Amino acid sequence: MLFIILLLLDITPMLPVLDGVVMELQDCALPLLRDIIPTDKEEVAFKDLDAAILVGSMPRKDGMERKDLLKANVAIFKSQGAALEKYAKKTVKVLVVGNPANTNCLIAAKSAPSIPKENFSCLTRLDHNRARSQVAMRCAVPATHVRNVIIWGNHSSTQYPDVHHCLVNMSGSELACFDAVKDDAWLKGDFIATVQQRGAAVIKARKLSSAMSAAKAICDHMRDIWTGTADGEFISMGVYSSGNSYGVPDDLIYSFPVQIKDKTWKIVEGLAINSFSQTKMDATAAELIEERDTAVAFLGV
Ligand code: LMR
Repeated sequence: MLFIILLLLDITPMLPVLDGVVMELQDCALPLLRDIIPTDKEEVAFKDLDAAILVGSMPRKDGMERKDLLKANVAIFKSQGAALEKYAKKTVKVLVVGNPANTNCLIAAKSAPSIPKENFSCLTRLDHNRARSQVAMRCAVPATHVRNVIIWGNHSSTQYPDVHHCLVNMSGSELACFDAVKDDAWLKGDFIATVQQRGAAVIKARKLSSAMSAAKAICDHMRDIWTGTADGEFISMGVYSSGNSYGVPDDLIYSFPVQIKDKTWKIVEGLAINSFSQTKMDATAAELIEERDTAVAFLGV
């Protein structure tokens, strides 16, 4: 029987705020939630974990260089990786949400050498859901009628939302996305830009980062790890690249199309990639290599 005990870790000054979160969680009357333990102690929060969702990271502040941001986050994710190594189960599934999510995830994985790298993933399900929803709105169908969009690469503005393998259910029959939308210029232009820039657009409008949609994407991601993906459906998540898929270099956390069974993800292989897609997949890989190399240089510091 599946049930959930939530261990909520925050820094000591935030513990009174965390009490408010605990009350809200209790007030949701969630069917699987059995207990909630707020704490400021890593040894409590990470002890025997089955699943870890790492949401806290240093947000970019005014005047901060990308390099400074990476340096601050390397320190955070090195320490969280070390805590996972020390206290969590070796089977723990780790989802990194805090930005830059892919590189933070790689640093956490490198800092927990006895936990398999395959147990680490970063959130690109939010981008996946955004892409699905944009296509659905364009075709005037529910989002559930759109499957197999792909987010390739980094959870950043270089990500590549790809609909070449996406199917849309229009009045009972499934069409290729390009045939359903009937607007190639939009799919190759504004659609991609909208998904790539959506996080920034939400911040501009709300003066705060995405919250509800990010939480929904985290639930989607974790539920799929635990229960598997539906037959014929793939989802996007940032996973460890071993250099064997789609020409993506190894030692990166790169978002791929994956299918999940028995809590194990597999990259969907053999999808045809045209030159339009390849260029975009390479560009986002190049950004990840640069981020990784900067971050890894800070690891020993
Ligand atoms: C998002 O995609 O909404 C967030 O990752 C944006 C951000 O920088 O917090």
